[in-house]
Amino acid sequence: MDKPFRRRDLLGIRGLTAAEIKGILDTAESFLEINTREIKKVPTLRGKTVVNLFFENSTRTRTSFELAAKRLSADAVNISVSSSSLAKGETLVDTALNLDAMQPDCIVVRHGSAGVPHQLAKVSQAAVINAGDGANEHPTQALLDAMTIREHKKKIKGLEVAIVGDILHSRVARSNIHLLTKLGAKVKVAGPGTLVPKDFVHLIDAAEIDHGSKAEGQRPLAVCEHVEDAIRGADVVMILRIQRERQDSAYFPTLREYAIHYGLTNERLDLAKKDAIVLHPGPMNRGIEIASEVADSSRSLILDQVKYGVTVRMAVLYLATGGGVTNS
Ligand code: CP
Repeated sequence: MDKPFRRRDLLGIRGLTAAEIKGILDTAESFLEINTREIKKVPTLRGKTVVNLFFENSTRTRTSFELAAKRLSADAVNISVSSSSLAKGETLVDTALNLDAMQPDCIVVRHGSAGVPHQLAKVSQAAVINAGDGANEHPTQALLDAMTIREHKKKIKGLEVAIVGDILHSRVARSNIHLLTKLGAKVKVAGPGTLVPKDFVHLIDAAEIDHGSKAEGQRPLAVCEHVEDAIRGADVVMILRIQRERQDSAYFPTLREYAIHYGLTNERLDLAKKDAIVLHPGPMNRGIEIASEVADSSRSLILDQVKYGVTVRMAVLYLATGGGVTNS
């Protein structure tokens, strides 16, 4: 097993080494079997407390963190922001300090603003896990995506991954670009010009970036002008949700036009390798970024992503609360 993750907090993929990422994935793999048992519970985190603090809606992430904690026998507490004292004007830092005074072992936080988990980590004694911060990062989503790819392709290095859609607002895209390029995959991104930032230099350390549609050579990240150029020859096609809640202006004329020009249909998927797999972080806008015929096909691993989400979050909670041996 690679050297596991030995940090207290998981704030993003950007700061992790390839060995740390592989260590988390290997740990998750070792937990896979627990989720196939009739009684899906082990005493590993008995006596530990996990607080889920979600300022944005969530189905998959919040539920799977709660299940992950409970399957490891930790106590999980979900804080409803609308009924907390945040609604009475308490600052985020004061809320964090008060939660911290109750001595939880881990705080899992999702917030609409980038950097909130980092802010919390500075004042909290508990391990802080980023469950999505604005358009910045969603590290456990990228880890579960990587686990899904690894379980089906048996590797990540050397694969071509197309990421299509609303790149600009997508924390999923950012975390995946970091993770996949660190593990040796080649990533091609595409979408409407207004939703694909042309300057990715700040995203990828030491990456050479091709701003054209040539996407050749050894470059780890390419920005393709046409969605077909990104999908052609891909091993993995990752479709992103149109993030209407983060769009403060019209980035494309209509949803119908978006579906016609950028939506993943069977015809577009036929450009990828014959054994290409399809991923989507959810929630899906069926008929917009992905056709139902693709989402429900045997090439779609969307529900596998959700399944591996529980396992990955078990690994992250285990490592962040001491399973990685040392804190730093
Ligand atoms: N993929 C994801 O983060 O889904 P939720 O918003 O339902 O948590």
